[in-house]
Amino acid sequence: MINRFRLGLVSSVALSVMLVACGPSNPSDEKPDTVAEVVETAGKIVKDDKFTYANYDEVQVRHVHLDLDVDFDQKKLIGTASLDLERIKLGANQLVLDTKGLTITEVRVFKDDPLDEGKVLGFVMGEDDPVLGRKLMLPLAPETSSVEITYETSPEAEGLQWLSPQQTAGKEHPFLFSQAQALNARTMAPLQDTPAVRMTYSATLRVPDGLVALMSAETLGDDGEGEFEFDMRQPIPSYLLAIAVGDIKFKAINDHIGVYAEDYILDAAVEEFSETPDMERANAELYGPYRWDRYDMIVLPPSFPFGGMENPRLSFLTPTLVAGDKSLTNVVAHELAHSWSGNLVTNSSWRDSWLNEGFTSYVENRVMEALYGKDRAVMEQALALEDLKRDIADNPPELSQLKLPESLRHPDDAFTNVAYVKGQFFLMFLEERFGREAFDPFLKNYFDTYAFEAITTEDFLSYMDKTIRSELPDAVSDADVQEWVFGQGLPDTAADPQSDAFEKVTAIISDWSSGVSSASEIDASGWSTHEWLHFVNNLPEALSDAQFADLDRAFSFTGTQNAETAFAWYLKTIAGGYEPAEAALEDFLLTVGRGKFIYRLYAALEANGKGDWARDVYARSRPGYHPIAQRRIDAILEG
Ligand code: BES
Ligand code: ZN
Repeated sequence: MINRFRLGLVSSVALSVMLVACGPSNPSDEKPDTVAEVVETAGKIVKDDKFTYANYDEVQVRHVHLDLDVDFDQKKLIGTASLDLERIKLGANQLVLDTKGLTITEVRVFKDDPLDEGKVLGFVMGEDDPVLGRKLMLPLAPETSSVEITYETSPEAEGLQWLSPQQTAGKEHPFLFSQAQALNARTMAPLQDTPAVRMTYSATLRVPDGLVALMSAETLGDDGEGEFEFDMRQPIPSYLLAIAVGDIKFKAINDHIGVYAEDYILDAAVEEFSETPDMERANAELYGPYRWDRYDMIVLPPSFPFGGMENPRLSFLTPTLVAGDKSLTNVVAHELAHSWSGNLVTNSSWRDSWLNEGFTSYVENRVMEALYGKDRAVMEQALALEDLKRDIADNPPELSQLKLPESLRHPDDAFTNVAYVKGQFFLMFLEERFGREAFDPFLKNYFDTYAFEAITTEDFLSYMDKTIRSELPDAVSDADVQEWVFGQGLPDTAADPQSDAFEKVTAIISDWSSGVSSASEIDASGWSTHEWLHFVNNLPEALSDAQFADLDRAFSFTGTQNAETAFAWYLKTIAGGYEPAEAALEDFLLTVGRGKFIYRLYAALEANGKGDWARDVYARSRPGYHPIAQRRIDAILEG
């Protein structure tokens, strides 16, 4: 089910919020702007995702079966996608799907009227768009309820990274992993590639002998000769479709949580993530039982372009989380939290990405607080707030709204810290105003009410009006909601997380930078990674080579194995032109493919007169980067 205006839930407050947000100043907006229109659209599906060609207001894909050869020689998935359809609009006579880089060879009617079964269908492909790809249009007879599409992917598919044996830790076997969010499921299979549509899926994958195949689904088994069967019985949006194939080993953490990884890092990862069961418990206590049966994690090769990806039943994680001291496990808490926010209740278009990422960042932080206490949770809030302020300053003002504008050009722009951190701080604000005793059950009911649905920001606001705001009408004003959700920048009502530990670090920085003490005199024993990050991030803008060297002598920042600290440090050394760090920075750029780090490092190099050096390193690192990272860095270093 997707963006329905639930009439019964649209209270006057939510309506007024919608009216202000979607009024005549934005004529291209499809949102209703009069009460009459809202009444008219109530119960109907409103197609509001402009990043899909799919006619999901007419027909929806309910189940997909993939039958694919995973061909490492050609770097292609080759086979069929069979789609079961449901009519949303009576008489719908075509199916429009998203594809990108796919070669479609045949379309047949599948398991319908016995007279028609196997009938070949003519199909039409649209123009190729650099962002959206090409639409695939199929005629539908009234009785057609299922179609089988024979296709293959492109070796350049942005959603698939094919690694040669040489690019893996084991060096003996190739590796493949997918990344469907946000618009890349369509590079893997012809689908309705929108978060507004949910489908169950099943799959048969044939992989080279000796390799293990995994998906964001239950593994039913394999035949011992490289054929694996999968089943995902809970309906998911296309962006949660996921595949990994490689020389992958498994170790259990408990009876329903475990880790997959290449051998070299498996034991270390199991140790690093050993507290995942506690995270699950804390999460379930707050927001209800985990609904996806197993929760496994896979540690991917270092070119994985994210910290983590919440593929259901199987979070994908970067190896940079395995720091040895559990200091970066908030990313696990984050991906696990998506099992409620995002995977259960999903944003119906990327303009509402804060419903996924902001809720998840909030839940993540609550879980970290439950496990490790307030101090760590507040430190993580404070670090996140610094990132948010930077993103607000660096981006056009309309990208600092939680509800993103119709003019959003690419979903990439929907995943700044505005969605994550401003979204989190909005929920912290609501929690503070309503009180935890009321807010926790409210969120739990929200996840239950909208489980397995896709909703808009306006749906959330309506639900809040109908429930907690009608019980506690004085806690939050319309103007507050309006400012947080549709306004730009950071409202004055945002919390200002105060960490005693960080204040001590700040005082130490000022003593050191004013020359009162040298780095070797700083007592940093017992500092957590968070304190180190606060220290490095808040060093003065302009440091001399002597100051960099003083810090490096005392703390060995250059070449540190903690990727977060390394990233923070190299941003400083780039800005300060500290050349002794260059070799280690080069090594970092050649071995780590996590976008959060490398995009800003390349941008900082370009901005600080090191563009030629950056392009030289990039020429060598690019072949190892994920296609998503390649596209992003090509744009950063272009010209
Ligand atoms: N869903 C995101 C990753 C993502 C976002 C993929 C947008 C594609 C498009 C994932 O849950 C995430 O937010 N990862 C963060 C972790 C974090 C703790 C904020 C990351 O990768 O850094
Ligand atoms: Zn996330």
